[in-house]
Amino acid sequence: MTTTGRRRLGEPPHPAQLDPAERMPLEELRALQLDRLRWSLRHAYENVPHYRQAFDAAGVHPDDCRELADLAHFPTTSKADLRDNYPFGMFAVPREQVRRVHASSGTTGRPTVVGYTEGDLATWATVMARSIRAAGGRPGDVLHNAYGYGLFTGGLGAHYGAEALGCTVVPVSGGMTPRQVQLITDFRPRVVMVTPSYMLTVVDEFERQGIDPRSTSLEIGIFGAEPWTEQMRREMEERLDIQAVDIYGLSEVMGPGVAQECVETKDGLHVWEDHFYPEVVDPLTGEVLPEGEQGELVLTSLTKEAMPVVRYRTRDLTRLLPGTARPGMRRIEKITGRSDDMIILRGVNLFPTQVEEIVLRTPGLSPHFALELTTRGRLDHLTCRIEARPDTPPDRRDPAAAEVAQAVKDTVGTSIDVVVVDPESLPRSVGKLKRLHDLRERPATGDPA
Ligand code: DLL
Repeated sequence: MTTTGRRRLGEPPHPAQLDPAERMPLEELRALQLDRLRWSLRHAYENVPHYRQAFDAAGVHPDDCRELADLAHFPTTSKADLRDNYPFGMFAVPREQVRRVHASSGTTGRPTVVGYTEGDLATWATVMARSIRAAGGRPGDVLHNAYGYGLFTGGLGAHYGAEALGCTVVPVSGGMTPRQVQLITDFRPRVVMVTPSYMLTVVDEFERQGIDPRSTSLEIGIFGAEPWTEQMRREMEERLDIQAVDIYGLSEVMGPGVAQECVETKDGLHVWEDHFYPEVVDPLTGEVLPEGEQGELVLTSLTKEAMPVVRYRTRDLTRLLPGTARPGMRRIEKITGRSDDMIILRGVNLFPTQVEEIVLRTPGLSPHFALELTTRGRLDHLTCRIEARPDTPPDRRDPAAAEVAQAVKDTVGTSIDVVVVDPESLPRSVGKLKRLHDLRERPATGDPA
């Protein structure tokens, strides 16, 4: 691909800059994983009553893990297990050794709490630094960190990783959008870390202030914490003249920095397998699927001290693929959605990302859209409201809406209502975007977090 301007970069790091694990021959990596896995299973079993009970109930013992494939015999862990052990019941070390906690907001009931020892925080900073480097960040870069600081893992996770890499961090957190624009203009960061939905809000603010977003100092955007599509990547890269790369993680397993897309390939996210062991399972049966098959990602921590997780069911849907830019480390395909986000509309499955792809390839429509699920009679009904782009002529709106509805019908196989609304009329996100608003009289059960 020939690129102009600042997007020419997409340079891989020099091999000497990589962590040893990133260059490890496969056999050596598998041996390291097995050693660490056996340690982690023992650590969980000996120190966390939940794991002891769950392993005993399943008739397995850490000594039964003789090869990596044996992990499949161990029970999985769910968010409900973490909630049931609220707040500190999943910790495997005395509380005094826990240096920090984070927690998910949890839309109902108790939040999920996670903890880190000093060693865990060092590991996290290492994998985050590795992620930023894989994205194209380098020591000496100014890095604008607009992930939320606080109990959410995004802000502090990115922060310490960027410092460990040797960046100058601007810890701005999310919100106060005009100030984001001012700081990007004045401090001239090369790298921005933020959710893709909030980046769009910031880009709109640049335009509102009459500043061309392509003229900023930004060269790299490291976007994650929510699903986003290839179409959204194109939108960001074009509007900002940057490289946009994907970062994945979840608090239960560590936070951001579990898997990262490499800027030179942008072909899915390499799982940092020296610390996290991935499996993909059938979401219904729990059966481990072969590489390449789509299913639910299950992650096991290999080195975590404060809160080991064994076969954590992420609910994120993806496939495992062989490594490319880091040949030893497998990739996960860009995440299409969570099983919880799946809308079942009159028997047909629909993900918000499918709608995003269609909206973004329809001329005249902005990336800002919201989905509303309601009940009409005894049937569920989905309405999609999409903002027109500011320069879209009014007589383009109805045809654009009809094109989206038709494309959803053709590709997904279900009818939805589509309304094109005024620019700036839908709520904006400052962190993770809530795309789907479930206004049904009796919402489906499922994990709301
Ligand atoms: O979102 C950690 C994070 C912060 C990742 C900043 C990347 C950047 P949680 O709040 O625990 O942690 O939410 C984890 O967010 O299970 C996915 O459903 C979703 N998610 C995270 N990254 C991505 C991504 C952070 N790149 C949940 N693509 C996960 C799609 C993502 N979904």
